[in-house]
Amino acid sequence: MAATTDQIETTAHSRQDPLDGTAIRADFPVLNGPTGDRPRLVFLDSAASSQKPQVVIDALTDYYERYNANIHRGVYQISELATERFEEARRKVARFLNARSPRECIFVRNATEALNLVAQSWGRANIAAGDLIVFSTMEHHSNIVPWQILAEEKGASLGHIRIDAAGRLDQEHFDELLAREPKLVAVTHVSNSLGTVNPLKEMIARAHAAGAIVVIDGAQSAPHLAIDVQDLDCDFLAISGHKMCGPMGAGVLYGKRSLLDAMPPFLGGGSMIRKVELERSTWADVPAKFEAGTPAVGDAIALGVAIDYLTDLGMDRIWEHEREIVAYALNRLREIPNVTIFGPQEAGERSGVVSFAVGEVHPHDVAAILDEGNVAVRAGHHCTQPLMRALDVVATTRASFYLYNDREDVDRLIEGIYRVNGVFGDTTSRTGTGGPCREKWDARTFEDDAP
Ligand SMILES: Cc1ncc(COP(=O)(O)O)c(C=O)c1O
Repeated sequence: MAATTDQIETTAHSRQDPLDGTAIRADFPVLNGPTGDRPRLVFLDSAASSQKPQVVIDALTDYYERYNANIHRGVYQISELATERFEEARRKVARFLNARSPRECIFVRNATEALNLVAQSWGRANIAAGDLIVFSTMEHHSNIVPWQILAEEKGASLGHIRIDAAGRLDQEHFDELLAREPKLVAVTHVSNSLGTVNPLKEMIARAHAAGAIVVIDGAQSAPHLAIDVQDLDCDFLAISGHKMCGPMGAGVLYGKRSLLDAMPPFLGGGSMIRKVELERSTWADVPAKFEAGTPAVGDAIALGVAIDYLTDLGMDRIWEHEREIVAYALNRLREIPNVTIFGPQEAGERSGVVSFAVGEVHPHDVAAILDEGNVAVRAGHHCTQPLMRALDVVATTRASFYLYNDREDVDRLIEGIYRVNGVFGDTTSRTGTGGPCREKWDARTFEDDAP
């Protein structure tokens, strides 16, 4: 991955060593803050939003304290500085994703907005009645609902790639859907509920061969692994800065320049125009065409600093570090007979997300008991209701690991699960590798899959 010229120093984390979760936690105030009579906070909900290192918090404060000003229009010094830093952040994003040009990187609020931008702009201009839009059963609602809205408006139809018993996309079913020549395929790089890492490069090539454009939801991959949009050859990719050590409020839509140039605006207003007359207007070039109104300037700049932080540690090292923790977590979870692990069973096939059930105990009860030990996990449907239906559960408990976690955090999670069993008794209606739940999942078919 290309290094930035103004990377921050993280000398505490020598590049020769594997990452050390304890040393990294020292960079994150929330993970070091006082906890009263509770033990150290073990934060296992980074898939929802990661914690922020001090350098990112400082970058935000620095912007508001020293050069808070609107951008692209001021002729005074602090506005020029803010503009320069904002555009520098865009260049950092472009290098991080290996985009051909910073112009291909549009600042939005989050992955949800990025996906809606594609649906409302590219989609409205290119999808017609009878066209097919394909997405997968494991998508986050943000990569489902925008396509449903578009399909409803245009009279298009939807196809859903099934998942197999191991929580992977069913590639044969994908080929069946491709044979129907969809106009657009939208798929997540990494599942936020199962942790599955999808084989994107070959899926994108097959989708292109079938004539579709491909939209990738990178919300759960960009924080954890090196992404190269040119190598993947995706047409669009959506990311959320707040899941990758950046502040809330800054996400990015990557899009191929030729597609972005041809697309109509998403939102109209200031900053996105070339000329406005009373009857009609013309549009600025990308990326400005898609950045109407005042952007989240400080957030974008701080996202650039988060990218420096991750890049300096090394995305490959972050990925390896998470592999090691997840392998350990899967082994320790398997020690507990009534724990069901959802998704791929091997650490090599998944990201740092582990969804599980503890017998018949409701995930909210599991999470509440874990919280008593100051272990923060998520319980619920994780904005993947269709996937929960495919798993035949209403919710799961999800532990998601990131660069600041380590084996000790996994041990604290396991201690908490033993406490759950202490409270509820050892409910053993499910077994560690799936049991009845997965059989139902195998048998399940989806009405909408019918050609
Ligand atoms: C896979 C995936 N896609 C999209 C999103 C939406 O992200 P945001 O809420 O930042 O728009 C999430 C958030 O959890 C996610 O996990």
